Amino acid sequence: MNIGSLKLKGKTVLAPLAGITNLPFRLMVKGCGCSLVCSEMVSAKGLFYGSQKTFALINTHPLERPVSIQIFGSDPLSMSMAAGTIEKHGVADIIDINMGCSVKKVLKTGSGAALMQDGQKARAVIAAVRESTSLPVTIKIRSGWDSSGSQALGIATAAQKAGVDAVAIHPRTATQGFRGRGDWSIIAKLKENLSIPVIGNGDIVTAADGLRMMEETGCDAVMAGRGVMVNPFMLADIDDIVAGKPLEQRSRDDIFSVMKGLITASVEYFGEEIACRIMRSRIAFFVKGWPESSKFRSAISQITSMEQALEIIKSYQDSLHRQSITPTALRDLGAFLNKM
Ligand SMILES: Cc1cc2nc3c(=O)[nH]c(=O)nc-3n(C[C@H](O)[C@H](O)[C@H](O)COP(=O)(O)O)c2cc1C
Repeated sequence: MNIGSLKLKGKTVLAPLAGITNLPFRLMVKGCGCSLVCSEMVSAKGLFYGSQKTFALINTHPLERPVSIQIFGSDPLSMSMAAGTIEKHGVADIIDINMGCSVKKVLKTGSGAALMQDGQKARAVIAAVRESTSLPVTIKIRSGWDSSGSQALGIATAAQKAGVDAVAIHPRTATQGFRGRGDWSIIAKLKENLSIPVIGNGDIVTAADGLRMMEETGCDAVMAGRGVMVNPFMLADIDDIVAGKPLEQRSRDDIFSVMKGLITASVEYFGEEIACRIMRSRIAFFVKGWPESSKFRSAISQITSMEQALEIIKSYQDSLHRQSITPTALRDLGAFLNKM
């Protein structure tokens, strides 16, 4: 699939997740396999005013490329300057415009999903960003402010006309937040009416969900966020199935390796104190539904050093290995030893 001049190797995209899809997390997902990763949303005003904290969010690593950096704002000037700055620093392959965030703090500034209510401003922002960069430009939208999806179609059609290269849609309304289910028929509606690629998003929890979304909506690629926090290999599985490759058998040990890699990379990138604070809640997602995971989660939620985190992980991993020796296997082993 192509997004403008950029060719992706497959059909999967890591969703932008504020506070989560930082550089180490993106490297982890890329390492597990995924066609495109996306930064968390970056304030255009923050870049405009030279905020160091905001600039840190546009750091990327060669190993995660191609990477999309998502910007948010409501003012065409700062949005265009932000896109220009990102291109000048050579850190991104795509500029994505956030038109879907429904957090009150963001809406109050006229950014995120608020742009879907103000078509004129949305078009001005899109045109300004499009003109300020030669990188591919994408938009990420919601259904809009009512459940019909007509606002989504209107904005996406205008964006296509303005030279936007792809649209990602999370088909929940702005007022819906994350409640209920997304209405995938709106993804299909966009696909029927647009010639640029449509990236479907929302409620993909397993690889099978991603494949079903492609089948039901005809979307060109799928984007997932929360499901990848639980299973970092999910997007790789979707790409493999679509490419007709045999599905890799993953074990819990593979996930344990990913956890250790994420902790190590986070400590290296953020320093031990901040990394431990982030990992206290992040690691818990990987063990959702695993045996005796509550004890593990509780221990991990209190880590203060990398060494302690790795020890807790090792001890849980060892306990799961012990549990995998079933009574039958033990009986067989006993019988074998008796014969010796
Ligand atoms: C914690 C969290 C942070 C998010 N941050 C962003 C963001 O920075 N930009 C954005 O466009 N969407 C953001 N979203 C929305 C996701 O990108 C995505 O559209 C939504 O979670 C639905 O996809 P999923 O069901 O695969 O998670 C966020 C969602 C969550 C749960």
